[in-house]
Amino acid sequence: MQSTLYGKDFITTEDWSVPELESALEMGAELKRRFAMGEPHDHLLRARTLFMLFFEESTRTRNSFETGMTQLGGHAIYLTPSATQIGHGENAKDTGRVLARYGHGIAVRDCRTGIGQPYQYDLAKWADIPIFSMQDDVDHPCQAMADLMTIRERFGNDLRGRKFVISWTYAPKYVRPLSVPQALIMLMTRWGMDVTLAHPKGFEMMPPTLKAARQHAAESGAKFEVVNDMDAAFEGADVCYAKSWGPITVTEEPKEVQRMVDEHKGWKCDERRMGLAQREAIYMHCMPIDRGYEATDAVIDGPQSVIYDEAENRLHIQKALMTLTMGGRG
Ligand code: CP
Repeated sequence: MQSTLYGKDFITTEDWSVPELESALEMGAELKRRFAMGEPHDHLLRARTLFMLFFEESTRTRNSFETGMTQLGGHAIYLTPSATQIGHGENAKDTGRVLARYGHGIAVRDCRTGIGQPYQYDLAKWADIPIFSMQDDVDHPCQAMADLMTIRERFGNDLRGRKFVISWTYAPKYVRPLSVPQALIMLMTRWGMDVTLAHPKGFEMMPPTLKAARQHAAESGAKFEVVNDMDAAFEGADVCYAKSWGPITVTEEPKEVQRMVDEHKGWKCDERRMGLAQREAIYMHCMPIDRGYEATDAVIDGPQSVIYDEAENRLHIQKALMTLTMGGRG
């Protein structure tokens, strides 16, 4: 367990070493046990405050951070640009320095392409309290850590040689950012899983995240491949993570996006495709999910689905991350 994480930002898992991330996973498991046993742990962040700044809406992220702070004895404040002077153009320096005079951490969801992650690093430059990414244009580190925790619960801590598939799926409703698939390829390769990224042409990841995934795979002795065939990806998989994202590295122009998405309506996670995977394979999705489009109800509600475990583990891993960085000293 690392005891040197006090004050550290959590903007991307790339900024944390494997032992540091392992500390969070261990503490997340311990806090989950305490929660299940009804063991009080509201001394860990007593009287501390987390500011949660949302540029986009949320169900899981907001409620898991907010209830997490309550369970740890602290308080979380929900902020949006329009509820603050950020909407009138107040910059990251002024926002960050002022909030750091009042509280103990700032969490941000800002998925604007080319803006979201740089905004958090700008805040981090000025605010001498931890900054947490609640999802941005590049990474969704809390989601990926909750997903890793969920996979470890199913397959144990030694994941080397397990086949992890993250596949694009069709969804008609709205264009999702790249942050979840990018977070997954960057993190799962560090734990030695053989990662297959599947998507139609035009739905590529940002080059730096592909480079990071390749580098981590080489370091951990794992495989990393990109394919354009969903069936081939699912063959022999242990983990089938299937979700939609936009062709963001190509275009964000709405009509062109819709045209590109509509060309691939057959990319859906159904029972036939799950049958290509290992018998004990699990089906994952970060939610919200477009039922009937991204996956069939039979898969979503079936015995291989762990989607509610993933959602629950957001609570436990975020409590661990906040305790390690905002608790202890001071
Ligand atoms: N998975 C996830 O981040 O969900 P929300 O968008 O509801 O927060």
